[in-house]
Amino acid sequence: MDVLRVAQLSDTHFLEPGGDPEGGHGYDTSAAFDAVLDDLVGQALDMIVVTGDIADHGAPGEYEVALAAFSRLACPVFLCPGNHDFDRPFRSSFTAPGIHTARQTNHGSWSFVYADSSSGNMAIDDSGRLRDPLGGERLHSNGSLGPSETDWLRAATVGHDADHVFVWVHHPPATDLAITRDAVYTSEWHTLIADRPKIRGFGGGHTHVPSTYAFAGRPVFVAPSLKNNFDLEAGTWLPPGYRTYEFGSDGQLSSQLHLIDDERWPRRPLGRAIRSLFAGELSHSELAEIIARRSS
Ligand SMILES: [Fe+2]
Repeated sequence: MDVLRVAQLSDTHFLEPGGDPEGGHGYDTSAAFDAVLDDLVGQALDMIVVTGDIADHGAPGEYEVALAAFSRLACPVFLCPGNHDFDRPFRSSFTAPGIHTARQTNHGSWSFVYADSSSGNMAIDDSGRLRDPLGGERLHSNGSLGPSETDWLRAATVGHDADHVFVWVHHPPATDLAITRDAVYTSEWHTLIADRPKIRGFGGGHTHVPSTYAFAGRPVFVAPSLKNNFDLEAGTWLPPGYRTYEFGSDGQLSSQLHLIDDERWPRRPLGRAIRSLFAGELSHSELAEIIARRSS
């Protein structure tokens, strides 16, 4: 195998039938998934990675929808969790063959690591196990590795069995988008990768603003969401989409963004409320209140 071909979906935000999107606005994510699936037909792929926010509210029924959707994909699927994925249903729902929540996989000269970038936001219960914080606190949290995930990643990214390591993670490190950037989280990754030269790059999601940028000399590829995407420079919405990657056995990697332009998802101008959210002038809950008022 000279080149490993991977497609990345992110932020699928599946809803139960008839469910309302968290935050009050979003595409029909099942229709967006169908469109992505159609676009993937005929592409030579070795595997698909989904980098979190698989469910919209972290509800068990949403994982049933996700499981049915991922079961339609024609190659093995690997998942890591996002801040919308509550730990217990995420860990227990993907029981079908070909759909994996493995933490690390090896592919020739490459090792893929699937990070849990919400681990540091979890609490420790009486039995010493990590559990999600109470209420909906997890839904709008930025990344935090915390001690146990950091220790695990330090071991996993050495690359004993591989020449090259690639990290799949919901929250991109040092995101180029101010409202999703977190100084402590950035510093956790800086410390971790300082003596991990085999890490060649990152594939993430979370921002719903697809982009590519550099972090500590490594490329960070941010995938689009199926729920809603934004082009902040053009000031427009973007259609749903995905990324493809080619990983060469010599350590070369490249990624391409695919957006599915369709009349269902016009690139209409961003409204003032969403611009205010990205500018840090509105919180997610204030935006949801505005949207609820408008639709009532
Ligand atoms: Fe998301």
